[in-house]
Amino acid sequence: MSSADLAGAPGHALAGTQGGPTHGGAIHDGTPLAVDLLGQYHEVRRASLALSAGWTPEDQALQSMPDASPVKWHLAHTSWFFEALLLRPSLPSYQAFDERYFRLFNSYYEALGPRHPRPQRGLLSRPDHAQVLAYRAHVDAAMSDLLEMADADLRARITPTLVLGLQHEMQHQELMVTDLLHAFSLNPLRPALWADVALAPAGPASHGSDVDPLHPSGWTPHAGGKVDVGHDGLGFAFDNELPRHPVWLQPYALGDRPVNGADVLAFIRDGGYRRPELWLSDAWATVQREGWQAPAYWVAGLDDDDYDVFGPNGLATLDPQAPVSALSYFEADAYARWAGARLPTEFEWEAAASLSGSLGGAGQVWEWTGSAYLPYPGFRPSPGPASEYNGKFMLNQMVLRGGSWATPAAQKRIGYRNFFPPGARWQISGLRLARDLE
Ligand SMILES: [Fe+2]
Repeated sequence: MSSADLAGAPGHALAGTQGGPTHGGAIHDGTPLAVDLLGQYHEVRRASLALSAGWTPEDQALQSMPDASPVKWHLAHTSWFFEALLLRPSLPSYQAFDERYFRLFNSYYEALGPRHPRPQRGLLSRPDHAQVLAYRAHVDAAMSDLLEMADADLRARITPTLVLGLQHEMQHQELMVTDLLHAFSLNPLRPALWADVALAPAGPASHGSDVDPLHPSGWTPHAGGKVDVGHDGLGFAFDNELPRHPVWLQPYALGDRPVNGADVLAFIRDGGYRRPELWLSDAWATVQREGWQAPAYWVAGLDDDDYDVFGPNGLATLDPQAPVSALSYFEADAYARWAGARLPTEFEWEAAASLSGSLGGAGQVWEWTGSAYLPYPGFRPSPGPASEYNGKFMLNQMVLRGGSWATPAAQKRIGYRNFFPPGARWQISGLRLARDLE
């Protein structure tokens, strides 16, 4: 996956994000070697502004549901992260831009005090957009001061948190896209995030009449056995990717590409959303309660059998070759069962991707795995306030792997564990099939 997948994005707004902090080809993870940390910092910060530059202040104030946040809030919260974890503790001369922002833009860090309620972030018309940009500039100037005054010892101590802050901001860049896409999906005008964003297809077409509709993709077999999973020690990793450890895999096969629009259309036409035997209990209750009849962002046409799909370009005719997106775990699991297959475990996915360097069509949509988001054996959260970053969410969430077209390139790595609750369907999330061998 490269920014070339987004060729055509006006002004390459997203391509700018994809560049990420690539000084020297990789982010460094805490050692004070000759990496241009300040340059990386400003590159990531500028990418957030480039990404959002085409969206109006009104766009950036929208909160479409409790799980999604306004773009403006993301821009402020990522600044708060540097302020709360680096500037306040480590720069004695630091003066807050506005003391009240410390509460306003804390997301979920209990150790750092009370917070403005998440579902009410959309009510924050003040500070206005211009004030949030001024807040960012204030934090950026102070971060420059901090890095320029730091001696080798302080620099070594703050580097892990600084690098974490950059990775955090890149995660929020993707959330800015998914959250605004959700808000736009509810607007009858169906606005486009950008015009003419070209997304790569899932892989080679395999929809000839000779293809079994229940197994439309090819399969790649894997012998299984003992494999090592988790971060290999090169470059950055979040704490939840550690420690590296062995697991045992039974022989299995993985689909050659993510499930695409044509595959899911066949599922729908076979009554997939109306057949309780295909769904887990919680999933079926959700289908019933929410009235799901197709993936999120699919809009039924006049004859109820054709679909348009809302995406970053606005509303477009369903592309049968494009990987399905905005799918919940519930739907991914039901689709796999209908197809006579299952979701891969996160370790099957990681072992196969490690062997081949990447999986066919990976990197366009996050791929749900059948693995609950749990700590690796020997997991130790990062020290200090960052201990709340990942570990406390290890309940009731499922792991996704691979990255999406909105994931900054500098964050795409095989061991990355994304996670969301099984009913979440506003992320750029699809699936790849797996099945047992023997
Ligand atoms: Fe955050």
